[in-house]
Amino acid sequence: MNIFSIETSCDETACAVVKDGIIELASSLATSKEIHESTGGVVPEIAARKQVEAILPVINSCLEKFSSIKEDIDAIAVTIGPGLIGSLIVGIEAAKALALAWNKPLIPVNHLIGHIYANFLEEDRKENTTTQKNILFPAIALVVSGGHTDLVLIKNHGDLEYLGGTIDDAAGEAFDKTARLLKLSNYLGGVLLSKKAAECKENTLQGRFPRPMINQDNYDFSFSGLKTAVKRIIENEHYPSEVVACEFENAVCDVLVFKTIKAAKEFNVKSILMGGGVAANKQLRQRLKQEAEALDISFYTPSLKLCGDNAVYIASAAYFNMHKVSLNNLESVQPNPSLSVMDKV
Ligand code: KG4
Ligand code: ZN
Repeated sequence: MNIFSIETSCDETACAVVKDGIIELASSLATSKEIHESTGGVVPEIAARKQVEAILPVINSCLEKFSSIKEDIDAIAVTIGPGLIGSLIVGIEAAKALALAWNKPLIPVNHLIGHIYANFLEEDRKENTTTQKNILFPAIALVVSGGHTDLVLIKNHGDLEYLGGTIDDAAGEAFDKTARLLKLSNYLGGVLLSKKAAECKENTLQGRFPRPMINQDNYDFSFSGLKTAVKRIIENEHYPSEVVACEFENAVCDVLVFKTIKAAKEFNVKSILMGGGVAANKQLRQRLKQEAEALDISFYTPSLKLCGDNAVYIASAAYFNMHKVSLNNLESVQPNPSLSVMDKV
């Protein structure tokens, strides 16, 4: 089954065609990130206008790539939230138009579930070989993105139990705000902060930043105090930025790894799935893999390309959680900017 998917939740405009939820047949992506860098954050109105400009070229480019594969499209999938309302509307209306024009059902998708399903896509595909990853349930999913940090128990496709999440800033947001405090980047500074941290030869701040909520008996997180601790050190003491970056990154990873592994042990899971932009963090990937495998739990995290926002995993999430909406019910598909990981679509 081939699903044509559209993702426009924030500042990326993306389309893809994915076969059986695991094989990427075609994909295209445009981003307005550079504009938001110059303004130091997303201006929703500008992001939405850029979505309008990009949506048709991106759809065309994806269809052009797909046209060489002589196969049909069976359904359309689209992100309905969470995200920016103006951006979401552009993708949703385009998806409805395609569903009507092609006479195919529409599948609404929760962007956060998409981040988890990036793990189901096969990688390094050789010509004509398909190896489906044998991801076993129950699994713990850690979603770490710019706007969300959630720990979820997945008993089966579509059968989720919420364990906890951030009570204030998301992990990615903490990376971005700290990168700004260190004057590394104005917008989406996670990668640059991590690169800076890697330059640190000796962490002379070891243990000076809090590991928020690490000793609390729950699966919640809090990252806003960490950012305040960074601010205080920068204002009052003179540590090189790579040392501050290193201690910050260690603090975030300590908490994320500790609580994820704690949940994995408590629920006796077979797999841990990590997804979202922060899943691209090298330390987080390495430490979770090491700790999971020491417990004989399979650890999955997407290739770097599939950690950031794109439409490929939207099609995968649509395939494994298929809630088809028929053509006479398209008006029921509406944007939901504040959708949570547990909300059904
Ligand atoms: O999932 P995503 O692309 O967008 C949202 O859905 O929010 O996540 C973007 C977030 C940003 O906060 C960005 O700084 C962070 O992911 N990020 C990283 C790394 N790469 C991206 N954070 C830490 N280390 C990285 N290597
Ligand atoms: Zn995302």
